[in-house]
Amino acid sequence: MLLRALSLLLIQLFVGASGASCGCSSVVIPVHVDVLVPKDPTDEFGGLKSNSSSLRRVNDEYKMHGVFCQPHTIPVQNSEVLQLLVHGVTYNSQYWSPPIEEFRNYSYAAFSCDRGLSSLAIDALGAGLSSHPANASDVQYPTGAAALSQLARHLKKSALLPGVKPFKKIIGIGHSAGSALLNFGAIVDGTRSPFDGLILTGSVIFDHGPSSLSMFPSARDADPLRWGALDPAYLTTSNDRTFFYPADPTTFSPRMLQFDAFTKDIASVSMILQVATTSVPALEYMGPVAKVIGSEDQISCQAGSCMNVSALTAAERVTWPAAQSFELVVSQGSGHDINLDFFASGALNTVFGFAKKFSR
Ligand SMILES: *[C@@H]1O[C@H](CO)[C@@H](O)[C@H](O)[C@H]1NC(C)=O
Ligand SMILES: *[C@@H]1O[C@H](CO)[C@@H](O)[C@H](O)[C@H]1NC(C)=O
Ligand SMILES: *[C@@H]1O[C@H](CO)[C@@H](O)[C@H](O)[C@H]1NC(C)=O
Ligand SMILES: *[C@@H]1O[C@H](CO)[C@@H](O)[C@H](O)[C@H]1NC(C)=O
Repeated sequence: MLLRALSLLLIQLFVGASGASCGCSSVVIPVHVDVLVPKDPTDEFGGLKSNSSSLRRVNDEYKMHGVFCQPHTIPVQNSEVLQLLVHGVTYNSQYWSPPIEEFRNYSYAAFSCDRGLSSLAIDALGAGLSSHPANASDVQYPTGAAALSQLARHLKKSALLPGVKPFKKIIGIGHSAGSALLNFGAIVDGTRSPFDGLILTGSVIFDHGPSSLSMFPSARDADPLRWGALDPAYLTTSNDRTFFYPADPTTFSPRMLQFDAFTKDIASVSMILQVATTSVPALEYMGPVAKVIGSEDQISCQAGSCMNVSALTAAERVTWPAAQSFELVVSQGSGHDINLDFFASGALNTVFGFAKKFSR
């Protein structure tokens, strides 16, 4: 509870710290999701390769919480563009605005707001202050991705806050499993996708068998005070989260690890296992797509697999055959959490460059 209160306080500080140029507020948006999920929550393809007898229906209403940041003086050409920011597993919306060094160096929300683009950093289904379905096996890629798409559709029709017009363009920006969720949405929504462009960070095609749960203890065992009432299929990490950073400990601030421990969150078993869906082609998604990956990413780039940029680009491009464009940047020096190490300013610049290009 104390940590949760601290987290909320930090959001408020961000509102104050960003001062004249930018205003942020917490928002809660209800979404209705009606999808088929695999009966087996450990199905690594999230039901994409299943027949109807192995699927079941989830038809539910969820509350999605996020932090909306908008420049006070918004350039006219940007007023109809929203970046929807989606964090990875065991993070939440605070990934996009860590309060280290007064939010100056690592906050993509502040970085892009200062440069004229609005963002909504969302808590994914089952994380942060968004709904936590009682049964963690309701939190699978089909439900999580549909919640994001429904949210984006809603924001194109209705005002997010009084005085904020519905958006004409929404760019999905993900990190890690957040990228995989947006990727899943592009696979199932195809030409009906509400996302006018996708920027996927910390995520490459995962096609080497089921991912492992060994690093993810049950959340209710890890922190009974905070998560004791939850379904044991909600997981978290141990307190050692250095694998999200480059192997060289001099390349990130030790204080970032403290932030990481304070804001550590949870994710369902399915959210971790269903990343294999990134190997399924998004045959009908037609918007522009960019991937940004850290050269020192210890999770996605084992054994130098991200060293050869042209080979990696060629391998990744095949799952986006209908995309208007496909580009891939390897951010030199960055780890898995490209926003959180000493190379963050380069990574933030790269992501913002794509966001600006896709918003035209
Ligand atoms: C449907 O999938 C299940 C599980 O993979 C399999 O056992 C069954 O034979 C399939 N049924 C049909 C009609 O293909
Ligand atoms: C953080 O940002 C401040 C001001 O923008 C800058 O002076 C400082 O060098 C930055 N620190 C790091 C570690 O990048
Ligand atoms: C969650 O829902 C599934 C499918 O309806 C069911 O098989 C399972 O027993 C439920 N788990 C819990 C903990 O209620
Ligand atoms: C990178 O991969 C391409 C094939 O995709 C290959 O032709 C080239 O030699 C590789 N470059 C290096 C430096 O290994």
